[in-house]
Amino acid sequence: MDKIMRIAIDGPVGAGKSTIAKAVAERLGFIYIDTGALYRAIGVHCAKNGVDVDDDKATAEHIAGMEADLRLAENGQRVFVNGEDLTDKIRTPEASMLASRVSANPRVRGFLLDLQRSFARDNSVIMDGRDIGTVVLPDAELKIFLTADAEERAKRRYDELAAKGVDTDYEAVLADLNKRDYDDSHRDFAPLKMADDAVLTDTTGNTFEQSVEEIMGIINEKLGK
Ligand code: DC
Repeated sequence: MDKIMRIAIDGPVGAGKSTIAKAVAERLGFIYIDTGALYRAIGVHCAKNGVDVDDDKATAEHIAGMEADLRLAENGQRVFVNGEDLTDKIRTPEASMLASRVSANPRVRGFLLDLQRSFARDNSVIMDGRDIGTVVLPDAELKIFLTADAEERAKRRYDELAAKGVDTDYEAVLADLNKRDYDDSHRDFAPLKMADDAVLTDTTGNTFEQSVEEIMGIINEKLGK
């Protein structure tokens, strides 16, 4: 393919954005960009350094001069802050909440905007997040809004955490997910919202393979195949 294609995938917590986007990127030979990892890494970095992520001013001071980056490695994408690889520290329930809280800060969003756009400048990408279709890549060739029932999303998230040995229970996961979706959708800057020109895909009841096929179908239709 000679022309660059940018696919934006937005949606609430646990809709399967990252696993589906990763599989689709592999099939298409596109680069997969997980933007949530950047917010997670900044949240973790703030917490590690004793910065209160609800204090917008202190957080803004902390990120001034910070270097955040995503790098492709053989085993997938890795996230760095000031040269430190934080990839293995960002997938905990605490890191999820820190990311959501830090993501409400307009200075953090502004700080990450150019970086996210730079990934899509010369490459065909599938980028997932909350504001990719509305803010980061408003001219994306294809926008998908991926969702599923909250209970099913919580069940998937719970299974993922349990498989990793994280000690939690389903009700706690559901409560966290609802809180994060509410906060992400109601913040003042770049809230989670379906772009007007996005394709809505509800994966409730789908297997992972069915969801991947559905998304591939939408892409192929877009590409006129
Ligand atoms: O996709 P995720 O669960 O890894 O994202 C973690 C948090 O980061 C999410 O609750 C909100 C924030 N986020 C965001 O505000 N904008 C993005 N493009 C990606 C994530």
